[in-house]
Amino acid sequence: MKFMKSKFELQSFDVLPRHVGVIMDGNGRWAKQRGLERSEGHKEGANVFRTICEYACDLGIECITFYAFSTENWARPELEIKGIMSLLRSYLLEALDRKKENEEKGMRIKFIGDVSRIDKELQKMIKIIEKQSAKKTRTVVNIAVNYGGKQELVKSFREIAEDIEKGRLSSADVTPELIESRLYTPDFPACDLIIRPSGEYRLSNFLTWQSAYSEFWFSDILWPDFTIDNFNEALRAYEQRNRRFGGI
Ligand code: FPP
Repeated sequence: MKFMKSKFELQSFDVLPRHVGVIMDGNGRWAKQRGLERSEGHKEGANVFRTICEYACDLGIECITFYAFSTENWARPELEIKGIMSLLRSYLLEALDRKKENEEKGMRIKFIGDVSRIDKELQKMIKIIEKQSAKKTRTVVNIAVNYGGKQELVKSFREIAEDIEKGRLSSADVTPELIESRLYTPDFPACDLIIRPSGEYRLSNFLTWQSAYSEFWFSDILWPDFTIDNFNEALRAYEQRNRRFGGI
């Protein structure tokens, strides 16, 4: 397949993570520092998301998951939630519009989380976008919306319990592979690298299962200030990690 020339200066890496997870944190503080509304921070954050998405795809990273809205984020003021959903809407409209460019790039767009709680119109757009990009294989851009790692595990366990109740499975069939097959990410590799800016050192219910052997990269930079150089820095750090997966 032929790909469009990248508008970025692409660095080369000896090892690239197959799956990168990104916690887009620090938007509120970024806005506060500038005397702006929190929604302005999210808006800038959404632009950074677009840039990193495109760069990751040009680099050929297999899968990148962005934490856009967690199951706990419903506790935020209604206005802020509306603002984030409106940014999501703009992105979805854009993705529908950019069908051809995304296709040429080989970008598959996918959503994880319980999207049944969000606006019906957004749900429809998500379905169309997922369907139209389903066959693309260069990079999966995975967007976590109303996502919680614990809730994802409960979903998997419930489905398995139901199959056991109905006699379709027995308790001896329950293996890590079976649990994984009922997560939102059955066809994705485990998360190799998790990037969390904004000076926080926690996972916040993100990719609980998939992060069992993740490497972490933290930085004080706030997400709206995050650049391609920072992304490269995280990838360089990953390149140096000695991953042993419990071995020696
Ligand atoms: C965390 O920063 C950020 C969020 C809860 C929302 C992230 C959402 C976006 C960047 C927009 C998503 C849009 C698309 C198109 C995917 P925070 O608000 O908790 O920051 P703070 O800790 O500084 O308050």
